[in-house]
Amino acid sequence: MRATIQLVVMLSTPLTLPAQAPLSHDLMPVPASVTLSSEQLRIDSNFAVAIVRHRDVRLERAITRTITRLEGRVGMPLSRRFGSDRGATLVIDVAGPGFRVPDPAEDESYDLNVSASQAVLTAPTVVGAMRGLETFLQLQAADGHGVFAQGAEIRDAPRFRWRGLLLDVSRHFEPVDVIKRTLDGMAVVKLNVFHWHLSDDQGFRVESLRLPRLQQLGSDSLFYTQEQIRDIVAYAADRGIRVMPEFDMPGHSSAWFVGYPNLASGPGPFEIARTWGTFAPTMDPTKESTYRFLDTFIGEMVALFPDHYWHVGGDEVEPKQWHENPAIQAWMKGHGIANEVALHTAFNKRLFAIVQKHDKIPVGWDEIFQPDLPTAAVIQSWRSSEALGASAKAGFRGILSAPYYIDHQKATSEFYLPDPIPAGSDLTGAERALVLGGEACMWSEYITPETIDSRIWPRLAAIAERFWSPGSVNDVTDMYRRLEVTSRRLGEVGLGHEDHTRRMVRRLAGDSAPLFEALLDYVRPRDFGGSGTSQMVPHTQLIDAAVADPHATWDLAGRARRAGTGDVAAATQLRADFRRMTGFYSRLLAVKDRIPEATDALQVAGALDQLGHVGLEALDFAARRTSPGPQWRVDADSALAAVAPDRMRQWQLRPVVADAVRLLVDAARALPSPGGSL
Ligand code: ACM
Repeated sequence: MRATIQLVVMLSTPLTLPAQAPLSHDLMPVPASVTLSSEQLRIDSNFAVAIVRHRDVRLERAITRTITRLEGRVGMPLSRRFGSDRGATLVIDVAGPGFRVPDPAEDESYDLNVSASQAVLTAPTVVGAMRGLETFLQLQAADGHGVFAQGAEIRDAPRFRWRGLLLDVSRHFEPVDVIKRTLDGMAVVKLNVFHWHLSDDQGFRVESLRLPRLQQLGSDSLFYTQEQIRDIVAYAADRGIRVMPEFDMPGHSSAWFVGYPNLASGPGPFEIARTWGTFAPTMDPTKESTYRFLDTFIGEMVALFPDHYWHVGGDEVEPKQWHENPAIQAWMKGHGIANEVALHTAFNKRLFAIVQKHDKIPVGWDEIFQPDLPTAAVIQSWRSSEALGASAKAGFRGILSAPYYIDHQKATSEFYLPDPIPAGSDLTGAERALVLGGEACMWSEYITPETIDSRIWPRLAAIAERFWSPGSVNDVTDMYRRLEVTSRRLGEVGLGHEDHTRRMVRRLAGDSAPLFEALLDYVRPRDFGGSGTSQMVPHTQLIDAAVADPHATWDLAGRARRAGTGDVAAATQLRADFRRMTGFYSRLLAVKDRIPEATDALQVAGALDQLGHVGLEALDFAARRTSPGPQWRVDADSALAAVAPDRMRQWQLRPVVADAVRLLVDAARALPSPGGSL
């Protein structure tokens, strides 16, 4: 009885429907190939795991983590002995260990077959098996009898070999436990590169024993000891995740100069930067002592970071100090270097020679891509997607980040659709092979250990799918359906994103917290932001409690579109949302003398009030199939104009419902019959 369907007809039907209903899954990322069956493998006290071929401690630890999560779901202890009985519930058949140090060439493929009697996971490497174990965990569902794994035949492998998250720990430091839970979340969604942005103007975050003033004077005592670095690198490797360090240079380097001012191109003294932007202090590319320093530094650091790739930064080089230093100007003239771009390239050539001497492959931001750069370098495109294509055409390997800046407070759908190799790309096959993948970037101007989970998750899960799954997987409504389940599952590894808003508003608003929590269902922070414009502010305001893509509004525009085509359930749900939105303003007025945050929220609550009324009226017109009168049209346009991006420039909190209301207003406007009494 194998009523199978292919992934391509996957429908948005929950698992709990009768067996004849179309089968669907909530896997994220979607595997390369899935065939579902109606069989169910029960997970109960008889659950047993067998390892039948290659076995090592990394594999055993991964299985133990899987069992721990399963136990949490079934609520009973499960056997942690791994036998070799091919009749076990979960049989793991791995050919070999894979690379000793996680490597972009790792074979992460796996096959997973789940029937009513058994699950068999086959993989060429331990990392492939780990990816398959995550899929096995995602196949779990429950019914009145308990927990089961859904029957499936899965053949899976990633589309891109480089699937990363950049985390900036300079602008705000993140402790070890935060890094570890972030790595755990990455493993859940099959990401494999942790790009660790360890130095910038606002802080130098690694302990150097040979150049100790780096952390002693450049970090406010917020840095990782060498032991902590080794621990995190091992923790990541245990999950099949590479750790690529970035020490950004020659710009973005003020924090180095507090302890070592002679590295800089201008006179000191220097300070750790406390605000955001680009700063004048820049390394001096003309002095031999700079390269001796970097050789010593990199020579020490390579022992901590076994990854083959070494990120040198290279972004936003501010040439002010180069222009103002007569010795540098004279050096440039003497060496036939015409401008600051050529000087940056001269610096990179020397730097790359050091990096390569220490057996690493250099990686750098867009700006390093200059005509006579050696093609050994990997280019990370942050300024545009087109730049990635240009570097591939010039023979460079590349990683795309431009569309995946999750420090911007945009909806998940906006990050989900851009593709490292978009459909219709004019790259040749050979050029496509140079596109290694992509990285989401979590710059940390506005994040703290308290807010970080809510800024990364669950949006990163959708980006992870873009990097792993076939390019044809791009249905936004279905993405949000699966993201809902995925988001909950990410909580299982200790991520706090789902509790974030509640936790923060309880502190801000006491027993009025439910009002603020409800308001933040329809509100996001301003585009690039949190409270304050310096490293020193605590980030504990309402804007920090808000999230970029509040769950209540996921796919709201999709719901509006469906309501417009007669979907009654979608219209009913939208009405409930709009009614809630119209209540906030008066309720905030009632508490504003007790709770300062209420005053800050009035502006956005006023906009929500208006948009809610317009939305309800537009739905009424649609239900009655009567076209609105001219005055209503004017009022609706004015409510929407009030929340146009240029009008909201000063707003800290922004409504996230305008697109859906606009769709409904346009639909009402297009209704056939003239007249209407409003
Ligand atoms: C960057 O965002 N400056 C790489």
